[in-house]
Amino acid sequence: MRPDGYTEPAERPRGYRADDEIVLDVKGLSKTFDVRHGLFGSRPFHAVKDVSFQLARGRTLGIVGESGSGKTTVGLTLVRLHQASTGQALFDGQDILAMNARQFHPYKRRLQIIFQNPYASLNPRFTVEQILTEPMQLHGIGNDAGARIKLARDWLDRVGLPASALQRYPHEFSGGQRQRIAIARCLTLQPEVLICDESVSALDVSVQAQVLNLLQDLQDEFRLSYLFISHDRPWSSIFPIRCW
Ligand SMILES: Nc1ncnc2c1ncn2[C@@H]1O[C@H](COP(=O)(O)OP(=O)(O)OP(=O)(O)O)[C@@H](O)[C@H]1O
Ligand SMILES: [Mg+2]
Repeated sequence: MRPDGYTEPAERPRGYRADDEIVLDVKGLSKTFDVRHGLFGSRPFHAVKDVSFQLARGRTLGIVGESGSGKTTVGLTLVRLHQASTGQALFDGQDILAMNARQFHPYKRRLQIIFQNPYASLNPRFTVEQILTEPMQLHGIGNDAGARIKLARDWLDRVGLPASALQRYPHEFSGGQRQRIAIARCLTLQPEVLICDESVSALDVSVQAQVLNLLQDLQDEFRLSYLFISHDRPWSSIFPIRCW
């Protein structure tokens, strides 16, 4: 291992196998936006067209493409922050795109997304304790507030942050630390699939390596599946993954 914590891929053998369990099976996903045209008109813009891929349990799939090619739109459509125009996304065999909000609720927990800029996705008015315990409360994790705070402390420790971080606010942390908080927040919900949209792009190279290593450790520990979205592939030497 190098001093910055980076572990050689060869020390972490993993590869796709024919008998891998498919956790997310995306078929013919398309997203068309209506964009304004002229004063009163609008016309369709096809941001994502007929995308299909399979993500196996405990594995990583990379979505690599140039800026504007629709990568983020794929991620946002899968977590239903955008409504898909056509297509299916079978999570454990169930089409999450066809579900109503009540049916989708448990899947919301199982499928999480981490964005490029954790500062934008962490509520600046919340302490880290509130950031970590609020989603747990929403999804009925932990018996009471005390149990949730204990879980929050454990997850912070797991991502390499001290318990004293609980009482602090997002702006008091570095970019790498904030990304660790964002990862901890996802983990509190014990997800199965994590969509990482340019999740390390904004970090310094050495911090990138640390966060990628953490993600890799977490994948080993919890058999997480990652959908890694990026416009380039700085992480592909660390994650021996299949790219789509
Ligand atoms: N809400 C929206 N309304 C209209 N067009 C949109 C909307 N969201 C995204 N687009 C367009 O869809 C296309 C794909 O955008 P998207 O953000 O998915 O690309 P990307 O591959 O993630 O790019 P980048 O690498 O820069 O993050 C872009 O042309 C974008 O302008
Ligand atoms: Mg994007």
